[in-house]
Amino acid sequence: MTLLPVPRTAIIVVAAGSGTRLRGGAPKALVGIDSRSILRHALDGVFAARPMQVVVVAPAGFEGVAETETRAAAGERADLASVVTGGDSRQQSVAAGLAALWGDIDTVLVHDAARALTPAAQIDAVADAVGAGAGVIPALPVVDTLKRIDGERIVGGVDRSELAAAQTPQGFPRRALEEAYHAAEAAGVEYTDDAALFAAAGHPVTRIDGSERAFKITTPADLERARYLLAGERPAAAAMPRIGVGTDVHAYGGDGDLWLAGLHWPGEQALAGHSDGDAVAHAMVDALLSAAGLGDIGTHFGTAHPEYAGAHADVFLRRTAQLLAEAGFDIGSVSVQFQSNRPRFSARRAEAQQVLSAALGGAPVSVTATTTDGLGFAGRGEGVSVTAVALVIPAR
Ligand code: CTP
Ligand code: MG
Repeated sequence: MTLLPVPRTAIIVVAAGSGTRLRGGAPKALVGIDSRSILRHALDGVFAARPMQVVVVAPAGFEGVAETETRAAAGERADLASVVTGGDSRQQSVAAGLAALWGDIDTVLVHDAARALTPAAQIDAVADAVGAGAGVIPALPVVDTLKRIDGERIVGGVDRSELAAAQTPQGFPRRALEEAYHAAEAAGVEYTDDAALFAAAGHPVTRIDGSERAFKITTPADLERARYLLAGERPAAAAMPRIGVGTDVHAYGGDGDLWLAGLHWPGEQALAGHSDGDAVAHAMVDALLSAAGLGDIGTHFGTAHPEYAGAHADVFLRRTAQLLAEAGFDIGSVSVQFQSNRPRFSARRAEAQQVLSAALGGAPVSVTATTTDGLGFAGRGEGVSVTAVALVIPAR
């Protein structure tokens, strides 16, 4: 086991609020964004930053859930993490976190769990920027035009160039922050953030750039924004390939020479059929159409389509590939086997595969032939029986 150096920086993640404005049916930090809670997302960011002590401040009564979420997010860093119970105000919750800091800690970051999507880089940047006697906050420029109001009446403008919107984590030298907390407690004053409390004790606070992703989830609309952002980042599910099967049977007895597997076989007895009787090509067409859910060969090439009378394999297959492309499918591969005593196929296998593949725009086609030990109509030389399987891929 390797002993990690004891960190000098800690982060207090305050998650003890009730979330009255979110109305999520549970303490805000435990409300789900996707399959993960607000707290879990916040902690995923925290544990992606550099190793530091992590104190999670949980709502009273929910310490167990917070503990589970913390362990799941911490992974191998579980030893750095602990959970304490929060108070009635944010300030009291931070104070509870401060009480749990280890002795070696000299820099403290205070972070709202509600800023669930805060990038780890922002946490590291704040830790880097904390000065000897100064606090630091991440902040964004204010974009809205601001008005001073008195009830319904606008009583003046506010120069927004003088303003910034504060985010978290906010970072401070530990001792100075603890003293400032004691002072605020003694004075009985509640501040809305730690920087205000720290500044009230007379310490300087500087700012670094915040980020849009560190927005605070306060209202249902904020939660929707977080969901929308995360949904856009999820890798699209890989399109599931689809398979199809096709069979065809033709009897010998057609006019002229045999056409089979896309090839002309001079001197071999022809197969009977509406087109050239190429049962290999027809089974392939059925397999491809079936994989794409486009019906079968009768739907697209039946006797109602006289233009296919006497047509060869390449015409059928080219049209099939076109139908699949129009329906949004790429052809992965086709495998086809025919049962027949004739013709002797293996010498022309490569040629057949090349012709059939070319007709499908280059998708690999493999053709095999077998006899049936003299059994059945194929064994008696009455006809051929073909089975094909095709794999197609929905093209996005
Ligand atoms: N917080 C806390 N303890 C409290 C109040 C707030 O730890 N007693 C935490 C919240 O969990 C949140 C952060 O402080 O992470 C910022 O507070 P806010 O966004 O106001 O959250 P809530 O107080 O939960 O929400 P609301 O004000 O709508 O009730
Ligand atoms: Mg609040």
